[in-house]
Amino acid sequence: MDTSVKNVIVEKAKTSKIDQVDFNNLSFGSIVTDHMMVCDYKDGAWETPKVVPYQPITLDPSSKIFHYGQSVFEGMKAYKDTDNNVWLFRPLENQKRLNISSKRLAIPEIPEAYFMEGLKALLKVDQQWIPQTEGSSLYIRPFVFATGKGFHASPANEYKFIIACAPSGPYFSGKVKVLIEEKYSRSANGGVGFAKAGGNYAGQFYPTQLAVAKGYNQVIWTDDNSHEYIEEAGAMNIFIRINDTLITSPTSDRILDGITRKSLIELAKDEGINVEVRKITVKEVVEASKNGTLMEMFGAGTAAVISPISAFGFQEKDYELPELDKSYAALLKKRITDIQYNRAEDKFGWRYKL
Ligand code: PLP
Ligand code: COI
Repeated sequence: MDTSVKNVIVEKAKTSKIDQVDFNNLSFGSIVTDHMMVCDYKDGAWETPKVVPYQPITLDPSSKIFHYGQSVFEGMKAYKDTDNNVWLFRPLENQKRLNISSKRLAIPEIPEAYFMEGLKALLKVDQQWIPQTEGSSLYIRPFVFATGKGFHASPANEYKFIIACAPSGPYFSGKVKVLIEEKYSRSANGGVGFAKAGGNYAGQFYPTQLAVAKGYNQVIWTDDNSHEYIEEAGAMNIFIRINDTLITSPTSDRILDGITRKSLIELAKDEGINVEVRKITVKEVVEASKNGTLMEMFGAGTAAVISPISAFGFQEKDYELPELDKSYAALLKKRITDIQYNRAEDKFGWRYKL
């Protein structure tokens, strides 16, 4: 297959919605930009990507996405610096991970050039939508799903790859209180937990609703086998600081290989912090909380950036985290966002200029 993109076709919107947006008051992911990128897969090949006005799509009711959930997605952000330069953060990691997810769901992989050229063309047309306000960015949602028809339970022969964008503020609005889950599981060995498959999230909604009804914001998933090990949260990888050591679970079949996670591991090591990538039990965390050595817990992800956890619930009991003046969460958040917004040297070469 020819994997170079000669031209991305661009059809501009006749009017813009941008004047209706309060860029000083952005929530997460609720307002979309004027355009979207669309690329169709037909007859065994991806067609030329197109940037078109943002619009609804029409699908046959027998499209396999509706019945068999063949759908994967990514989450990334574009950042604008004070000189109006636009930056992405490790975009090729998202491109690669989208294909890792696609492969697991029997969805055809997207060539790097289609992903990057389509994305760049979209961001060029919608660059006015990239917020410059502190703590805000343009959330980018690439996704691929099965449009092919028929009720036969087999992979579709047609797909759509779309990229849509939403100027966004913080994912969580206040303190994050989590519940350590012991009954439900997010994923299992040999399953699709490592993929950003839409169904992984659907499966989390009900247990998360139960947790929200008890006053928590998110569930912390434990391993499906014993429920003894801490794995990750609904939309974030988890870091735990005991004394001065920062611990995070190794990735596996069951855990998403987060780009924020792996960047924070590098940054923490660069700060001289002792980082341990190892399995960690709920018991160890509860003990550390009881004996005063549990210093911090935080979630890490593109949408959530670094979200400090204020308390966790386990077996009907809540455990509060101390409020620190000098937390690893604050230090690492500054390090990573300074790179993302082009405020600091990028010694790892993660920034990607548009
Ligand atoms: N874990 C899950 C389940 C997620 O949905 C996300 C969000 O993308 C993450 C972790 C964090 O991954 P990343 O840092 O690549 O955004
Ligand atoms: C992201 O952090 O980009 C995610 O995909 C999380 C999402 C489920 C909101």
